Amino acid sequence: MRLGWLQVTAVTAASVVSAQDDLQYSPPFYPSPWANGQGEWASSYQRAVELVSQMTLAEKVNLTTGTGWMLDKCVGQTGSVPRLGIQSICLQDSPLGIRFGDYNSAFPAGINVAATWDKQLAYLRGQAMGQEFSDKGIDVQLGPAAGPLGRHPDGGRNWEGFSPDPALTGVLFAETIRGIQDAGVIATAKHYIANEQEHFRQTPEAKGLGFDISDTLSSNIDDKTMHELYLWPFADAVRAGVGAIMCSYNQINNSYGCQNSQTLNKLLKAELGFQGFVMSDWSAQHSGVGAALAGMDMSMPGDIAFNDGLSFYGTNLTIGVLNGTIPQWRVDDMAVRIMAAYYKVGRDRLHTPPNFSSWTRDEFGFEHNAVSDGAYERVNHFVDVQRDHAQIIRRVGADSVVLLKNTGALPLSGKEKKVSILGEDAGSNPWGANGCDDRGCDNGTLAMAWGSGTAEFPYLVTPEQAIQSQVINGRGNVFAVTDNGALDQMAKVAAQSSVALVFVNADAGEAFISVDGNNGDRKNLTLWKNGEEVIKTAAKSCNNTVVVIHSVGPVLVDEWYEHPNVTGILWAGLPGQESGNSIADVLYGRVNPGAKSPFTWGKTREAYGAPLVTKPNNGHGAPQADFTEGVFIDYRRFDQKNETPIYEFGYGLSYTTFEFSNLHVLPLKGAEYQPASGKTGAAPKLGKTGEASDYQYPKGLHRVRQYIYPWLNSTDLKSSSGDPHYNDDITKWVPEGSHDGSPQPILPAGGGAGGNPRLYEDLFRVSVTITNTGDVVGDEVPQLYVSLGGPNEPKKVLRKFERLHLAPSQQVVWSTTLSRRDLSNWDVQKQDWVITPYHKEIFVGSSSRQLPLHASLPAVQ
Ligand SMILES: *[C@@H]1O[C@H](CO)[C@@H](O)[C@H](O)[C@H]1NC(C)=O
Ligand SMILES: *[C@@H]1O[C@H](CO)[C@@H](O)[C@H](O)[C@H]1NC(C)=O
Ligand SMILES: *[C@@H]1O[C@H](CO)[C@@H](O)[C@H](O)[C@H]1NC(C)=O
Ligand SMILES: *[C@@H]1O[C@H](CO)[C@@H](O)[C@H](O)[C@H]1NC(C)=O
Ligand SMILES: *[C@@H]1O[C@H](CO)[C@@H](O)[C@H](O)[C@H]1NC(C)=O
Ligand SMILES: *[C@@H]1O[C@H](CO)[C@@H](O)[C@H](O)[C@H]1NC(C)=O
Ligand SMILES: *[C@@H]1O[C@H](CO)[C@@H](O)[C@H](O)[C@H]1NC(C)=O
Ligand SMILES: *[C@@H]1O[C@H](CO)[C@@H](O)[C@H](O)[C@H]1NC(C)=O
Ligand SMILES: *[C@@H]1O[C@H](CO)[C@@H](O)[C@H](O)[C@H]1NC(C)=O
Ligand SMILES: *[C@@H]1O[C@H](CO)[C@@H](O)[C@H](O)[C@H]1NC(C)=O
Repeated sequence: MRLGWLQVTAVTAASVVSAQDDLQYSPPFYPSPWANGQGEWASSYQRAVELVSQMTLAEKVNLTTGTGWMLDKCVGQTGSVPRLGIQSICLQDSPLGIRFGDYNSAFPAGINVAATWDKQLAYLRGQAMGQEFSDKGIDVQLGPAAGPLGRHPDGGRNWEGFSPDPALTGVLFAETIRGIQDAGVIATAKHYIANEQEHFRQTPEAKGLGFDISDTLSSNIDDKTMHELYLWPFADAVRAGVGAIMCSYNQINNSYGCQNSQTLNKLLKAELGFQGFVMSDWSAQHSGVGAALAGMDMSMPGDIAFNDGLSFYGTNLTIGVLNGTIPQWRVDDMAVRIMAAYYKVGRDRLHTPPNFSSWTRDEFGFEHNAVSDGAYERVNHFVDVQRDHAQIIRRVGADSVVLLKNTGALPLSGKEKKVSILGEDAGSNPWGANGCDDRGCDNGTLAMAWGSGTAEFPYLVTPEQAIQSQVINGRGNVFAVTDNGALDQMAKVAAQSSVALVFVNADAGEAFISVDGNNGDRKNLTLWKNGEEVIKTAAKSCNNTVVVIHSVGPVLVDEWYEHPNVTGILWAGLPGQESGNSIADVLYGRVNPGAKSPFTWGKTREAYGAPLVTKPNNGHGAPQADFTEGVFIDYRRFDQKNETPIYEFGYGLSYTTFEFSNLHVLPLKGAEYQPASGKTGAAPKLGKTGEASDYQYPKGLHRVRQYIYPWLNSTDLKSSSGDPHYNDDITKWVPEGSHDGSPQPILPAGGGAGGNPRLYEDLFRVSVTITNTGDVVGDEVPQLYVSLGGPNEPKKVLRKFERLHLAPSQQVVWSTTLSRRDLSNWDVQKQDWVITPYHKEIFVGSSSRQLPLHASLPAVQ
């Protein structure tokens, strides 16, 4: 049966026959794998099983379902289990800090972490965020993101994640997760999966733009591309022990992300062995039974449409078990997965109820904000959770500045007599740093893009502020012109200055906000706010013009980057609250730039391929995004097309120079590959289901309007559901095999966290000598690329990197390893990873196009 278009109904299992049979479809995979506590999950799994065994059905259901939008203090909160002392679990945005809070830090965005190529910094930032979330009483941080990965350079939310390269993303994603979870907070790897663009991610948003479509965009991806590109970082996340995964708004092969049995049951749970829980993105759930059987464990924020008081889970999930469409073991598994993640990170020791409210900055307010009900209480305790995190923020901000051009102007001496600071992007937002909700505007300097992936700024040090104090300290004069329309005034001060520092930007974000006609995704790759004219104006008047770009990704620089008066170009990304201090550190040489571009800078948008789908292309049906380019995105595509980028992936200059030498390859005694085999145990059944009469609303309960509960109005299941499509023909809605709780075959590529453990065995040791040949201390990032060989493979793919710190003339031997996974391709027939017989070669150097060293790899089986 085909998995096609799915109605919005609780009964819809993922087996409805598609109305459009020619569309790509997603093969069903059932039953939904139950957790088994493998590896480092053993003890937390055991504790979860013991706890859930004591729970009634309604108590289990409570853990799986949010209480509704704005009904409690966090952006998502589950029901509680008071009888067993389990309080509501609080889930809060975002990947870069606490959204809707106060006295919290605003960290650099994920894309800046990618630019650092620094594993330790990724970890430390994650840990610092985790501490802040924990201190506010948040149990689950809704981040980090590796979806979007960055198929489209103009994709609206790329900046929330890391890089279009899956290996760079995977490593930093995993380190961020470790950091967050070591601080005692459950991390959420999102958005799973193929959530690459903002247009058509939700049908009501599409309506808002005048497009009437029945369903959200379908990302149609072949199995090889899925494994080698989009799934890759999620495997790293699972291997790092991530507690939660958020399924996405889009469809994959015309089956919704939150009820796609192929992506959830098969890839994530059976193959990668994920032991934590899958939560829906906010309103990404489109069915109850269908989602449950396909592997979705938690409904967020719980209601079907915000504040409609209805849920696909809650009451409906209780009913689904009582009427036999969902096996009890599936709900047991949901609850176990949630509690296992909770115990794994130590929430049982650290949990406190949230001591802030997402919905007001007032001290007092109603317990249930959306409906002004419950206790009128102290909802904001104004707990300062910032610690000394400003230091790490400043450091990530500086260590993520990519020096793209430097003809000798930088670093500045600090003794410049006259300095001009030009561009709106240097100054503050006249509306205030948090003056636009969810940072939904581009006023003043860009230190964070827009959407739910944001945090409130505690303050924002602008480039103008930081540079001005620096110049004053050096007894110079400083002139800032931050109105991008004031070109004459800019020309005048630039002409007198020994250096003109020009700040420009390009913004993007999430589709629920549109800024200047950019509906989440960018409508072009050019600078915003007349940026090109500002640069040209400065360069015409000042022979020492340094350009700083704050942007969400690549911008087109072709018009001006070669201008002889443009003596320096720096990309500073989205640096967070210490923005000005971070850039000043680099401009004045306190920090020697060592960042590398985490994406390619092409001459045109077209050079990247993979255009966004911005117009419906399937009538009123789901728009179709065919990922026909396969794994060829970003530098892989530029290599494939022999297209020369302006700045290549991995590129970045320093104030010193480095040399690479002595590449050595040492084969290691790796064991032969063994596909995983055997069977899982049977699905454990924990506790008893009971009957409808056990789950009636308690007598005398004050029912909060719009609140989602697990209980039933009556013992009549159909009327308690109120589902107009309530259907008693079970065979019509329940996919074949979905109720089978007997031992299941282990997939060949499965058997451990992140897949077959043998994939992670090292086959080669590679070493190379790096020398600092200049006269200042600096950082270099050696990058190891592999050519996997074969007619349809990228010329090379990044596999290993390390950020090294070297004193002048210091030499270090960088030693790394290549695992079986690093050398494998996904074999669609075998449904397993294989090392192909094609010739394999490695390349080492300082960017994807500066690879002075190479060596062949001996054949391996
Ligand atoms: C159960 O789900 C259906 C949609 O499938 C919805 O119409 C109904 O209102 C829900 N019932 C409750 C009690 O939330
Ligand atoms: C999508 O369809 C392609 C082509 O048939 C197939 O290779 C791939 O496995 C499918 N993926 C999912 C998640 O359904
Ligand atoms: C479900 O959670 C709500 C909200 O926390 C709570 O009031 C209710 O008692 C819980 N129900 C059960 C069965 O524990
Ligand atoms: C808020 O967080 C602190 C620190 O984690 C915690 O000790 C406290 O119980 C919470 N509530 C208040 C009111 O501070
Ligand atoms: C701030 O941004 C808003 C929204 O884009 C815009 O309408 C407004 O003009 C901007 N204000 C200033 C002072 O730049
Ligand atoms: C690209 O979009 C930005 C932001 O909306 C806008 O300022 C700029 O003028 C656009 N560029 C072109 C060439 O249309
Ligand atoms: C810029 O021009 C000034 C004189 O106007 C000259 O002293 C200086 O060397 C020039 N700088 C560069 C970088 O060419
Ligand atoms: C570079 O700047 C100088 C002023 O220092 C100016 O005279 C010259 O015309 C500029 N060059 C270009 C190509 O605009
Ligand atoms: C259950 O009862 C409540 C309170 O009377 C009512 O508001 C709600 O609509 C009922 N739900 C269904 C599905 O009939
Ligand atoms: C079982 O309950 C679910 C949830 O209310 C409902 O969607 C489904 O139609 C019911 N199925 C049967 C066979 O009664």
